Amino acid sequence: MTPIQETIINKKTNKSPVWLMRQAGRYLPEFRKIRKLNPDFINLCLNEELSSEITLQPLKRFELDAAIIFSDILMLPYGLNQKVEFKKNFGPQLGPLNLNDLLKVDEIDFVEKLLPIYKTIKKVSENDLIKNKDVIGFVGAPWTLLVYMINKQSPKKELIKKFFKDEFLINRVLIILEKFLKLHIDQQITNGATVIQIFDSWAGLLEEKDLPNYIYIPTLNLVNYVKSLNVPIICFPRGIKNYKNFCDIVKPDAINIDYSVNPLSISKKINIPIQGGLDPKVLLTDTENLKKQTLRYLKTFKDHPYIFNLGHGVLPETKPDMVDYLVKMVKDY
Ligand code: CP3
Repeated sequence: MTPIQETIINKKTNKSPVWLMRQAGRYLPEFRKIRKLNPDFINLCLNEELSSEITLQPLKRFELDAAIIFSDILMLPYGLNQKVEFKKNFGPQLGPLNLNDLLKVDEIDFVEKLLPIYKTIKKVSENDLIKNKDVIGFVGAPWTLLVYMINKQSPKKELIKKFFKDEFLINRVLIILEKFLKLHIDQQITNGATVIQIFDSWAGLLEEKDLPNYIYIPTLNLVNYVKSLNVPIICFPRGIKNYKNFCDIVKPDAINIDYSVNPLSISKKINIPIQGGLDPKVLLTDTENLKKQTLRYLKTFKDHPYIFNLGHGVLPETKPDMVDYLVKMVKDY
């Protein structure tokens, strides 16, 4: 069993495995070199040679326990034929959403369109660097994808006022998303993903009363689906106010916490394996502070099954040496 599986399945606490969200990305000069020659981000995600190379870049530098596939949660709306663009200094920009077009999307065409992603996973999982390590496949949660598909761009801190106006549309899109998310997960696992993570980056935008409809029920359906395939499932409902309620209802195999969560109080409240937490901004400070903050998590979770990770992705301004320091520290602890 891999170190991450020992932690999630066997609830081992003697050693914390480590990987980082956005471990492959702009903070690495070898990534920037490829990115510069490939200005279209979607095309880069659909290039299995380059995507697999990028996925493995951080594993060549650091002693990480997993590779996370270089792709994006918005490849799903792209697979459903909604226009998706990544604009410099702006982020994602989506095109019009038409329910009739969505209803016409065929499963075979969807898989065909995203085939390079599945080929990337296969290539990565067959690489020697992955020996005794996990290949993490991922999807966006139905709620977060719905937000991008309807809002067309990042909602930053607030949803557009008329977001919930068309309830009929929202409910139909959620049904379609569930079907294609399951297919996307299934294809990732068939091609070598050994762990699945669900990113719900905008969970924090909802009020308590809306959580069952938009988060608990749709996410539970996906979690149960992944469990039926015998693959560990990690959830990251970023910014959700009550992580314990989420865990009690959705029951993922492990939960990633964000950096606003107090590690000590969560370790007492939640029984399932925990992942992440460290503020990625700590990597922008100095090694002394990084050491102190990292030890805070390692010490707090020393008797709790814990996978070391961050409370959000590695920031582009991060120095690779700081990541090296962090990974070595976790490994030597
Ligand atoms: O973690 C990894 O290393 C795997 C790859 C990965 C990317 N995006 C690559 C990426 C993963 C898991 C994601 C998930 C993702 N994508 C989320 C959920 C996690 C989170 O950050 O909250 C969201 C909300 C998206 C949507 C998205 N993609 C945004 C908002 C942006 C623009 C902001 C940014 O950081 O540039 C992207 C682009 C994106 N996805 C990049 C990468 C490496 C940057 C592309 C570039 O080089 O310009």
